[in-house]
Amino acid sequence: MSEKKLPITDSRLDSVAIIMDGNGRWAKARGLARSAGHIAGAKIVQGVLETFKRLDIHHVTLYAFSTENWKRPKDEVDTLMGLLYDYVDRVVIKMLREDDSFSVKFIGDRSVLPDKLRAKLDEAEEMSKNKLFTCYVALNYGGRDEIVAAANSAIRDGYTELNKDIMSRYMYTYPAPDPDMVIRTGGDFRISNFLLWQSAYAEYMILDTLWPDFSESDIVRCVEEFYSRDRRFGGLSANDKK
Ligand code: FPP
Repeated sequence: MSEKKLPITDSRLDSVAIIMDGNGRWAKARGLARSAGHIAGAKIVQGVLETFKRLDIHHVTLYAFSTENWKRPKDEVDTLMGLLYDYVDRVVIKMLREDDSFSVKFIGDRSVLPDKLRAKLDEAEEMSKNKLFTCYVALNYGGRDEIVAAANSAIRDGYTELNKDIMSRYMYTYPAPDPDMVIRTGGDFRISNFLLWQSAYAEYMILDTLWPDFSESDIVRCVEEFYSRDRRFGGLSANDKK
């Protein structure tokens, strides 16, 4: 990605979550197998993270594999699992070594992931203590599963009645702030079971851009759009209160 000048942001936009959609269509448009789209999609991830870091956005959550993605053909699932392993092994671990401020956390149910991949995720997380910028990678993640798992964990810990604060503490993303903005590439207006609890007040950005084409100018566009919106959190806007 280029070193183009980025807008000055204030700290309000601190957490971004992304549904990286459109890899399959990107590949199809080029007469390639869907896997080629995922490979191209993985290649842009590091640049995207670096751009958010330059913008001083401390939390970025990426939807890499959902609990529903197991329904895809076995060769596509195998490619994605292999790609994720390679990415963590080659790219993420190198980033963690070279950049003191970067960390990674994997969210989702990893109990059914291949052993080799699980060990690699543990290794990357082990290197990630107390850092400023965190990338959360959602892997075998489902928002409804997360809410049910949170409630069950709280019950196992002895709670007989739950409230929003207790539930928030049992989410995979705790203690990260909720996303201020959710970006979805690929043009579909869907939540797809992503961060259902955490994105209650997020600003949604739906981009037609397919994920492998997602660029710095798309990020700038989303940030500008975010700051042009009047976030009211169910209350009144500052102007209406006068
Ligand atoms: C959705 O596109 C994308 C996925 C299911 C996988 C996302 C994975 C990556 C971008 C690569 C690895 C990620 C990391 C964090 C290194 P789709 O296949 O549904 O596209 P389509 O809607 O065009 O079919």
